[in-house]
Amino acid sequence: MIPDWGLLRCCEPVPIPGRRAPLAYSPRGCYHTLMQIMEVAAESVPLVKVGGLADVVDGLSRALHRMGHRVDRILPGYVRHIPGYADLPTIEVGEYTFRYMPGETGTVWFFHEPALFDRQGIYGEQGKGYPDNWLRFGRFSRAAAALILHLETPPDVVHVHDWHTATVGVFLPSTMRTVLTLHNAAYQERLTPDRAAVLDLPYDPGDPYTHSMLAQGLRTASWIVPVSPTYARELLGEGTDHGLAPLLRPLQARIRGILNGLDTERWDPRSDPALPVRYDISRLEEGKRAAARALRQELGLPSAGPLLGMVARITRQKGHDLLPALLPILRKHRATLVILGTGDALLEDRLQRLSSLDPAHIRFIRAFRDDLARRIYAAADWFLMPSRYEPCGLAQMIAFRYGTPVIAHRTGGLVDTVVDLHAEPARANGFLFWPFGAEPFRVVVDEALTLQKEHPEEYARLRIQAMQTPVSWEVSARAYLTLMQERQGVHP
Ligand code: GLC
Repeated sequence: MIPDWGLLRCCEPVPIPGRRAPLAYSPRGCYHTLMQIMEVAAESVPLVKVGGLADVVDGLSRALHRMGHRVDRILPGYVRHIPGYADLPTIEVGEYTFRYMPGETGTVWFFHEPALFDRQGIYGEQGKGYPDNWLRFGRFSRAAAALILHLETPPDVVHVHDWHTATVGVFLPSTMRTVLTLHNAAYQERLTPDRAAVLDLPYDPGDPYTHSMLAQGLRTASWIVPVSPTYARELLGEGTDHGLAPLLRPLQARIRGILNGLDTERWDPRSDPALPVRYDISRLEEGKRAAARALRQELGLPSAGPLLGMVARITRQKGHDLLPALLPILRKHRATLVILGTGDALLEDRLQRLSSLDPAHIRFIRAFRDDLARRIYAAADWFLMPSRYEPCGLAQMIAFRYGTPVIAHRTGGLVDTVVDLHAEPARANGFLFWPFGAEPFRVVVDEALTLQKEHPEEYARLRIQAMQTPVSWEVSARAYLTLMQERQGVHP
């Protein structure tokens, strides 16, 4: 029987020997094995977004859905952030309450516990995390596991993300396949014996796999997926490992780095309503020129000179502290750097001061505005990502999609996506600098701006190559699917 999910739009044949899921016939005429996947995450576009994790949950879900699979989601019931939340139907699962609604790729479930989730912020307020986050997400994970076990048709795979939902697997039977994606393993949420007791989690002073919520998930996951191949290597000890290498090395056989994709429907200069002129590669020059004109007018920027853009959460990770070193270079080239973002209050203040010092060359917009971000991606001649570490990074892929070359620190997913002009001119889409530091960054930005001025034809080629860089989810979604279908559900 073909389940009536109304989902079969696109189809690629995915032959899986021995699968128990139903074989369905797609409208395009290929046989397709359907899976039922449950995403459990702290955030997901289009409902709640703080960081890239939210884009990944949605982008991957939509890509898997396009391949014919059903993807349900479980999210915390952020009462004040989910449109129409108060009117959603409710069900009780043991001691837990859920609300639910139909979503684009399947059902979206919300764990309803206002004492924990009826708050102004998602993770915290005014740049400070809530002190009870361990309890909020620990309880959410426990409840999500209860819901999964309560469902009439349990999912084939449960996909969890970062420490927030890493412990879901602890409460599931070992026969259920789980995939744990690591978006940012710097955050692990340490456990104490007391906290573990409250959350019903094991704790053993001699067992490091019980010492944080993330570590508990590492042990129980069937697969561990860092968000890029380079980040996987870094976590295993070849770079910034956030102290996890000793825990991850014994699990190496279960670790696969998979690069995130970009939702190319949501990020598309051909249809983006935030742009004054929509464009594709044949109208690249025209589209970008119009975007730059609009941005200059909107922000009152100088009417000429190169534009550099940076859109990122304001955290230490993203390397905003390297920006003051650029000021002499920006002045030399009469260039303007536009920085958009919010985050750490102290870092925001510093950027504000820098910006008011010389607003013609550095302009900081202390806000999180999707439409303005889109105009920056399109208007910029160069997009900056001086991240200290960057598990994957989505902004560079958006920049490429909008035809903007990227200048980035050679780390994590930036290594796997930004092709340096010196290394591979024929495929290059930007510049990489290393080691991390103000001087190497300054030198490379100077080089980029010099290239733009003195070799416009080479710069134009770089732009085109940036726009041609493949960034869609299709390849990565297939890599996830392969993992999800491998190993008939046995925990190690
Ligand atoms: C985190 C990481 C970022 C990654 C994103 C999505 O925000 O810092 O590098 O792209 O998650 O996986």
